[in-house]
Amino acid sequence: MALHLLDHPLGRHYVTRLRDETTRPEAFRVICHRLTGLLLTEATRELPTRPVRVHTPLEETEGEELSTYVVAVAVLRAGLGMLEPFTRLLPDVSIGYIGLERDEATAEAHAYYCKLPPVENRPVFVVDPMLATGGSAVRAVQRVRDAGATKIRFLCIVAAPEGLERLGEAFPDVPVYAAALDRGLDPRKFICPGLGDFGDRLYGTQINQSGL
Ligand code: PRP
Ligand code: URA
Repeated sequence: MALHLLDHPLGRHYVTRLRDETTRPEAFRVICHRLTGLLLTEATRELPTRPVRVHTPLEETEGEELSTYVVAVAVLRAGLGMLEPFTRLLPDVSIGYIGLERDEATAEAHAYYCKLPPVENRPVFVVDPMLATGGSAVRAVQRVRDAGATKIRFLCIVAAPEGLERLGEAFPDVPVYAAALDRGLDPRKFICPGLGDFGDRLYGTQINQSGL
């Protein structure tokens, strides 16, 4: 499996801001959009284009336009935080959703929702910010593959070696684009050093010590 690790000072800067436990949800969401934009630029590098003629105010010249529709599939809930750059940067993107939640005791993901647009013959970008055990990623990619997708890429903010191994074993042909590769999982299957529960930090659903 190919791992594309974001190697950019902006990437390292924004990952550090996300890790910081004092970063509050409003800033967390904005930083998540920025980081995903950087990942998206890398992950779309090989999208096909076709030549088009275009009239500038001065003359006619040759240009290029995307020659494929693109699908983004967000794994609920945290993957929603990675959708904004797709809708901003990609014309005519189709969006799908897969609802997955890890059981707090076993850390195994179970599916509760799935709504996908047509995916056959289209590049599909599955987005989920945390690749921990890899259970959620494998389930999400399997759903997309079952729907007929053949060109799948997986985008996350933080990956753990355990998740990369599990996803790579299940789908060796699916490249992973990540902003950070962390040390590993703790006994609760949280990524260390990580950034905590991404969904809670994105949506402000974690009660902190001050009761807020
Ligand atoms: C988080 C995260 C991934 C999953 C990763 O979601 O967004 O989907 O955990 O863990 P895994 O690799 O071990 O499967 P969570 O289940 O906490 O749900 P949420 O997004 O609704 O908070
Ligand atoms: N899901 C998260 O949100 N964080 C982790 O560290 C692992 C899974």
